[in-house]
Amino acid sequence: MKLFDQISINEFLNEYWEKKPYIFRNISFSKENSIKVEDLLMMAEDEYYETRAIFQNLKGDWDVQDGPFASKIFKEQKNKWTFIAHNTEHYFLDIKNIKKQLEVLPTWLFDDVMATYSSTGSSVGAHIDNYNVFIMQTLGTRKWLLQQNPIHDYQEKLPVRILKEFIPDTEIMLEEGDMIYIPPHFAHHGISQSESISLSFGYKSLENKTIIDHLCVNLLDKYKSDSFFKTKLQKTNDPGTIDKETLSKLKEHIQHDLSDDVFFAKSMGALNSESKRPTEILEINHDEFQEHAKENPLFKDEFVRHCFIEIDSKIHLFVNKNEFIITNTQKETLNHILNFDHHTEIVLKDLPEIHNELYELTKLGILFFDGE
Ligand SMILES: [Fe+2]
Repeated sequence: MKLFDQISINEFLNEYWEKKPYIFRNISFSKENSIKVEDLLMMAEDEYYETRAIFQNLKGDWDVQDGPFASKIFKEQKNKWTFIAHNTEHYFLDIKNIKKQLEVLPTWLFDDVMATYSSTGSSVGAHIDNYNVFIMQTLGTRKWLLQQNPIHDYQEKLPVRILKEFIPDTEIMLEEGDMIYIPPHFAHHGISQSESISLSFGYKSLENKTIIDHLCVNLLDKYKSDSFFKTKLQKTNDPGTIDKETLSKLKEHIQHDLSDDVFFAKSMGALNSESKRPTEILEINHDEFQEHAKENPLFKDEFVRHCFIEIDSKIHLFVNKNEFIITNTQKETLNHILNFDHHTEIVLKDLPEIHNELYELTKLGILFFDGE
């Protein structure tokens, strides 16, 4: 069964998204193409991948370590352990297929697919995320305990974030092929009932703090160091008081910049196209690029993020915080390419309509020729 066969996407978005958990039962997936224990152990050993592990000894003490790991440490481990690998959507066909089914949700909110491999009885403790997460069980069984309105207070002096108080109101057992959607700020505690693999498809929530932080940084960039608010002074009999009129003019002065629609849209474009991994600038002139592209295909950096925003009737493409103004036809082609698998070849001569954008993206290191 596909994800939105059992509940329509509209019902899901209206009733559950960012409101309450939902259980998808018996989702079709191919065990053969999905991530296996051997794949995770391979990722554990290779420093290329972003991995970490959380251990809990018999006394209940926690320890968190970043990868790489010698894979035998998991097999020989007496303590409970949870191994976590990030960004797995780039490497496994079945994860890509499940992610495709979620593309009825905005791709610009998507973060990554984290694979969790754990021993019987393991957990990472009861906690809260700022994320929307769809967690699919692909090996073994995992019990989930949930609490709707937890107190956001964490135990002190622990290497893991574990709630001080957790009073679950719901218990759910996930078997292979089941998936749970957990909204942001819903406390959750997953305990493996056997050797277990689960996949967490994470979608960002738009946190006020992040938006304000980003807007303020952009606003600071916008202001020249010599710009200031010009006070129109009059003789005063109360020199220690900031009067109402000055306050309201000062507020108006600052709000004027914040309420600029173009500034706001561009800031949101940059914020929502920020890549996890910066790319390296390539010094290449246009002739060299063309010459090289005759013989060699381009590839896309696997961590590239992009979004489109219409500003003043023009389409703006934001890629890793860089901005391009493009046409409707170019939007279709560029969207197609930026959604490519990172192994897919991009052949310049087949794409005359976006030749220049491909050149610019190559200079930014977002596209690259193999071997560079
Ligand atoms: Fe979580």
